[in-house]
Amino acid sequence: MKSENLLVTGGCGFIGSNFIRCMLADAGFQGRIINLDSLTYAGNPENLQGLAEEYADRYVFEKADICDASAIQEIFSRYRVDSVCHFAAESHVDRSIKRPETFIQTNIAGTFNLLEAARGTASQGSTFHLFHHISTDEVYGSLGPEGCFTEETPYRPNSPYSASKASSDHLVRAYHETYGLPTTISNCSNNYGPYQFPEKLIPLVILNALEGKALPVYGDGKNVRDWLYVTDHCEAIVEIMRRGTRGETYNIGGHAEMENISIVGMICDLLDEIAPAKAPRRNLITFVKDRPGHDRRYAIDFTKLNRELGWTPKESFATGLRKTVLWYIENRGWSERIRSGAYQNWIQENYGKRS
Ligand SMILES: NC(=O)c1ccc[n+]([C@@H]2O[C@H](COP(=O)([O-])OP(=O)(O)OC[C@H]3O[C@@H](n4cnc5c(N)ncnc54)[C@H](O)[C@@H]3O)[C@@H](O)[C@H]2O)c1
Repeated sequence: MKSENLLVTGGCGFIGSNFIRCMLADAGFQGRIINLDSLTYAGNPENLQGLAEEYADRYVFEKADICDASAIQEIFSRYRVDSVCHFAAESHVDRSIKRPETFIQTNIAGTFNLLEAARGTASQGSTFHLFHHISTDEVYGSLGPEGCFTEETPYRPNSPYSASKASSDHLVRAYHETYGLPTTISNCSNNYGPYQFPEKLIPLVILNALEGKALPVYGDGKNVRDWLYVTDHCEAIVEIMRRGTRGETYNIGGHAEMENISIVGMICDLLDEIAPAKAPRRNLITFVKDRPGHDRRYAIDFTKLNRELGWTPKESFATGLRKTVLWYIENRGWSERIRSGAYQNWIQENYGKRS
């Protein structure tokens, strides 16, 4: 990576924090990372604990909101930002159904502010290498039992979350076509792994199962997602940023289509093996009313990424899930601080009021 000052937005979230760890450990990147995050409920500085000391010259945290255009401009010029990897987003579909406004603000207007700052930098003659935008396979809508999403699949988003992500993808594309901004976009399938906020399926089920609580499964549990271990996603992003064609989109997937109910069953069996309880944890499975507009099936064709950049996932779903379950068992303190609210107070004391 040519970048000397890489701005990572949303670096205190699940994928962003894994990405920052990945980049700082990568011998091919010698630049500085500026982690810009407004610390919403999903942002957790503890995910990056120790990095500011270990990489004193190469890692800095800035608490800022991507919806604040002047703060973004100021950070671009103060740090001489020459590349962006943009993760910051409202990311939970259920929340987007209850309160779509913040999704429109952060995911669309926030992306616009970042693009404007990048365009300003590039047009003032400063070096600007790349704006990489992280997106989702949900922009493509729902599949029937056959076929996969390719980069040519028309966008048909079905939730306020996926519609806001689709809008931001279009903005990024337009800034490349209209202003010649060097951009890349990646549309990835469902991620899982360490540091995922425990409102998402896999960490929620692991933690509830460990605590003997009900394991909620939407509808008939037969919705299918393609699952990717988070470090595989991070490695794909690094490859795209390094060698991906500017102006292009790349799909990223795990080749691991799974029904929700199968995942919940696998987690129960793994926990019964690793940390046996009095009764099989499958007894805790509870079917709940389906979410409105719940897409039935997603599956990703990542042939383009494999053909052009040679990327393929390293983890199978079985190996990745075992690693994930072990991580949540070994890091109970992390999730307990989130779930008990103790962590919220700590954030307020150290970083001021949450966004
Ligand atoms: N998790 C997945 O399975 C998945 C799959 C495909 C794509 N994605 C995309 O990857 C990106 C990261 O997802 P994640 O799961 O890590 O999300 P996350 O919810 O764990 O983290 C989002 C981060 O963005 C920050 N943030 C939110 N609003 C902000 C704002 N206005 N200004 C600055 N920071 C803000 C939050 O504080 C948090 O640290 C998102 O763009 C998401 O759409 C996620």
